[in-house]
Amino acid sequence: MSWNTNDIPSLSGRTAVVTGANGGLGLETARALAGAGAHVVMAARDQEKAAAAQQSIRETHPSASLEIVALDLGSLASVREAADRILAAHDKIDILVNNAGVMALPQRKTADGFEMQFGVNHLGHFALTAHLLPALLRADAARVVSVTSTAHHMGRAVDPKNPHLEGSYGEWKAYGQSKLANFHFAVGLQRRFEAAGIAAASLIAHPGLSDTDLQATSVAETEGGFVQRFFHGLASSTGMTPAAGALPQVRAATDPSAKGGEFYAPRFVNNGPPVRRPILRRIGLSKAIETLWEVSERETGVTLDVEAAKRSLTS
Ligand SMILES: NC(=O)c1ccc[n+]([C@@H]2O[C@H](COP(=O)([O-])OP(=O)(O)OC[C@H]3O[C@@H](n4cnc5c(N)ncnc54)[C@H](OP(=O)(O)O)[C@@H]3O)[C@@H](O)[C@H]2O)c1
Repeated sequence: MSWNTNDIPSLSGRTAVVTGANGGLGLETARALAGAGAHVVMAARDQEKAAAAQQSIRETHPSASLEIVALDLGSLASVREAADRILAAHDKIDILVNNAGVMALPQRKTADGFEMQFGVNHLGHFALTAHLLPALLRADAARVVSVTSTAHHMGRAVDPKNPHLEGSYGEWKAYGQSKLANFHFAVGLQRRFEAAGIAAASLIAHPGLSDTDLQATSVAETEGGFVQRFFHGLASSTGMTPAAGALPQVRAATDPSAKGGEFYAPRFVNNGPPVRRPILRRIGLSKAIETLWEVSERETGVTLDVEAAKRSLTS
């Protein structure tokens, strides 16, 4: 039998944070985690959508324990505020799913002047994870799941001299860079957990092709971009449902046999049940990770140092 939500162990007593939990894969991830008994913090930008998403989960799981926290990943101030709210309410966080994302938009900037796709998909999640680190380290064996895409294969590692692609912007180039950054971030975080000798785990997931709002939004934002329309048509006709597409990230977050550094994805690349896939693109991996860390800390002004966080918890 293929892995499905019936395989999720009881998550009673666990706290999970899901970004972009107001729609698409994030909503289905929140639904699956709440259905297994976790308290789910739905970190979301559009608050009307978040309220509707909360209502939708309650219709499936009437006793779901849910909380909405406003989060705009395109603003470091909002990320800080969201993290402060979460930390004030929760001593420990067992699961963090860095899911929210935008795809192939025209060139735009975040509130802090970052290229939008790198800023929202990676830098915002980098800062959020860094802020939440103390609560993640207080859990017995927290899991952090980064959601990437097959598009990471076409991405170039971040260039420290031009992370925001000034003068060389391409809608898909920027998406590929951001999704490769998600991948490098997840592997780098796992290496830091291991080096610090703590039980927390960082895993990677990609949902294949899923029929969510991602493609429709990129078509609308690019006023009918050709490649965007192609993927929208493909996702509407052949894409998995959001619930099926969310399974790789749900499995990465909850399967007791899953380990740090592993990568979960649909069996047939874009479709199929969630399975563990090999990590490819190992050449230059260590250098790309260290460069990404330097760039992320420099741009956000936020340090993500697992050893230091561990020391300050034990001192
Ligand atoms: N669907 C696919 O086929 C596919 C394939 C590969 C990878 N992915 C990845 O899967 C993840 C989820 O995407 P999806 O398919 O579920 O798309 P979706 O339905 O468009 O959902 C995207 C989510 O990201 C949130 N978001 C966007 N900008 C944000 C910001 N600045 N701050 C906070 N939240 C923001 C959206 O919230 P608002 O509505 O409030 O904007 C929404 O909740 C993304 O990382 C995407 O790259 C999806």
